[in-house]
Amino acid sequence: MPAKPVPQAPLPFVVPEVIEGARVRLRRSRVDDSAALHRVASDPEVMRHVEWAAPRHPGETTRFLEGVDARWAAGVEHHWAVIAKADAAVIGSVAARRRGHAADFGVLIGRDHWGRGLGLEAAGLLVGWLGRQPGLERVWAAPDAADARSHRLLGRLGFEAEGVLRRATVRPALGPSPRDALLLARLTDGATPVERGPARGAMAPVTQADPTVAEMEARVARFESLLPTADYVDAAIPGCERTTWRVLGDAPGAPLAADGFHLNLVRCAPGKSAPLHNHLTREIFMPLSGRWEIFWGPQGARSLTLERWDTIVVPPGVSRGFRNVGSEDALLIGIAEGRDPGRINWPQAVRAAARAVGIELPVA
Ligand SMILES: CC(C)(COP(=O)(O)OP(=O)(O)OC[C@H]1O[C@@H](n2cnc3c(N)ncnc32)[C@H](O)[C@@H]1OP(=O)(O)O)[C@@H](O)C(=O)NCCC(=O)NCCS
Repeated sequence: MPAKPVPQAPLPFVVPEVIEGARVRLRRSRVDDSAALHRVASDPEVMRHVEWAAPRHPGETTRFLEGVDARWAAGVEHHWAVIAKADAAVIGSVAARRRGHAADFGVLIGRDHWGRGLGLEAAGLLVGWLGRQPGLERVWAAPDAADARSHRLLGRLGFEAEGVLRRATVRPALGPSPRDALLLARLTDGATPVERGPARGAMAPVTQADPTVAEMEARVARFESLLPTADYVDAAIPGCERTTWRVLGDAPGAPLAADGFHLNLVRCAPGKSAPLHNHLTREIFMPLSGRWEIFWGPQGARSLTLERWDTIVVPPGVSRGFRNVGSEDALLIGIAEGRDPGRINWPQAVRAAARAVGIELPVA
């Protein structure tokens, strides 16, 4: 989407005139795109949530594109036509404005072409290219708070909502009053794909990477070599005796690294359990053997039984525990989601049970 120039010193960076995708190509806008762009931008439905007024006649679009050309030359804004490769037609435009470490961008696609993933591809090409520019750490957009279509597109590209900008922007098609906008951004600096959210629909590159067996063996956690962790202090509560091995994650003692989740193996004798506890994020359980009861709620009054290889995802904010309800020792996988699932916490009844045997469970 074309954007208004912002009077700030540009930061020089090398901007390609063509960015090639599978179904669309971004090509530096030219004044002779005027007729095609005018068709797109004179559609009230397309312009509903845009922050500039629809051009009233083709001459306005031509003048706009002359300005676009000058702004590219000055380095303050870069504007590309979106070309459908199937028939080489100009179907819309994208634009980006870099200001130091951050850039914002916009996208506009002709209504005839909506709903085919072409806007996503065009925006994804631009955002992907921006994300690879040295020193550029943040890409953002602030669509109208009611523009659900743009929110979905940005979400698919890994943008996260940062808040509502109240009465931030006039959308001429919707009247003269400033309207709320939703600020969405995607970080590109050093953040892992999991932290910033992978670009949905982005395709993993096929590479020549070919690690040796020894290199891959270093990425195997052999069960025989795992050492139980002493981190689960609640395992000293009578009835809660269990063995926990950290396998994957950031936590100290996990032999393998993982991004965005933590995987433990737990073994309990029949009747033994993990008491009700809380994490900030989702927790996933899957019995590798035996039968397990998962219980939850303020008193743990509700429960269901998992058989071997069943999986449950417990929502954040719900106290949860598990118990081996089979007749033999059994193994369970537990996965805590998120880079940091937060410090474990326990309801008062569990704290009291621990206190009764001389253990003070840590408080925040
Ligand atoms: C916002 C806008 C760019 C979206 O364009 P689009 O091409 O329709 O967007 P997408 O590529 O995301 O496709 C949209 C839908 O097509 C679906 N789709 C169909 N085929 C698809 C494919 N092959 N790949 C991906 N999505 C596909 C998507 O699932 C999506 O469905 P949803 O809207 O129900 O979630 C377009 O509506 C537009 O130009 N709006 C006006 C201008 C504007 O407001 N711009 C935003 C302000 S910056």
